[in-house]
Amino acid sequence: MPERVRITDVAPRDGLQSEPRPIPTEEKAALVEIIARTGVDEIEATSFVSPRWIPQLGDAHDLFVLLKDRDIPESVTLSALVPNQRGMDEVYKVRAETMPIGKVAVFTAASETFSKRNTNATIQETLDRFAPVVTMAAEAPGGPIAVRGYVSCAVKCPYDGDVAPSRVADVARRLVDLGVDEIDLGDTIGAGTPDSIARVIGVVREAIGDGPTITLHLHDTFGRAADCVRAALREGVRSFDAASAGLGGCPYASTPHRRAPGNIALATLIDVVHAEGYETGTDAEAVRAAGVAASKILEAGASA
Ligand code: HMG
Ligand code: MG
Repeated sequence: MPERVRITDVAPRDGLQSEPRPIPTEEKAALVEIIARTGVDEIEATSFVSPRWIPQLGDAHDLFVLLKDRDIPESVTLSALVPNQRGMDEVYKVRAETMPIGKVAVFTAASETFSKRNTNATIQETLDRFAPVVTMAAEAPGGPIAVRGYVSCAVKCPYDGDVAPSRVADVARRLVDLGVDEIDLGDTIGAGTPDSIARVIGVVREAIGDGPTITLHLHDTFGRAADCVRAALREGVRSFDAASAGLGGCPYASTPHRRAPGNIALATLIDVVHAEGYETGTDAEAVRAAGVAASKILEAGASA
């Protein structure tokens, strides 16, 4: 039997968060439902962050209310970004009122400048904010919620340039010490090469041991993401993020000259993973349909 690779589609969160057009919550719920049919393991549905910082995702609670009536197989984990205790209070409300959230994702960076720009906090301050999030996740009514910990700028920072793997590993170690179950290495601006990706995975794995899952979150700026997936598979990574239609990009990774790049497209990720001899449990036709639906949301924004 081929070994299984786990996939999270982050299009509803990373893909939509920078879209300037206010996207109706109904459209977002429909997108989540259509992605759920692809057979991916997880969908990062939204973020419980400040609506002043990410206006597009200010409807996170309402989205979960709508998702309650959508056809989402139980096998698909729904997750959301949470930056602080306030976000976790919202997650508790969703759990109590509507439908289960299986995972939350805290997010920090291996670059102080990016951390400040993205969350108005130093790396240590972000970690201090995560401590109550991890405790609340473990004690959540209805059962524990898994916690993923993103480390952005795992290869390069849009402001400060190259980031040493040892810095990434240090932040990953501190997240694991806090109690996160999974480390998600974000190549925020798609600067990675197969060599740099393999190096950072090796150094992080050494720092955190074999327990926590390592996930790779690639943005495909220079068309190298597929090669980076191959390198990561060789390093033992079996969990990847992607976005239907390659949507994506953090607004705080954009510069005046360049909008933040999209995530690796779900279809591209699946093609590479299958070609390397692994299975994903996804359905090609459903993946195509999700890609079309995701593109339509962007096209509607472009023509609005
Ligand atoms: P702050 O301004 O320092 O915090 O923001 P604050 O505590 O002073 O709060 C400011 C306002 O936000 C207050 O409201 C709070 O109540 C409210 P006001 O009194 O002014 O009306 N607030 C909240 N509202 C809803 N939910 C919350 C929440 N917390 C505070 N959870 C904060 C700090 C972290 C909140 C802010 O910086 C923030 O929300 N940042 C989010 C940035 C973000 O989501 N970026 C994109 C995701 S990261 C990414 O894309 C990278 C990734 O894809 C990986 C990769 O590619 O590398 C993950
Ligand atoms: Mg991202």
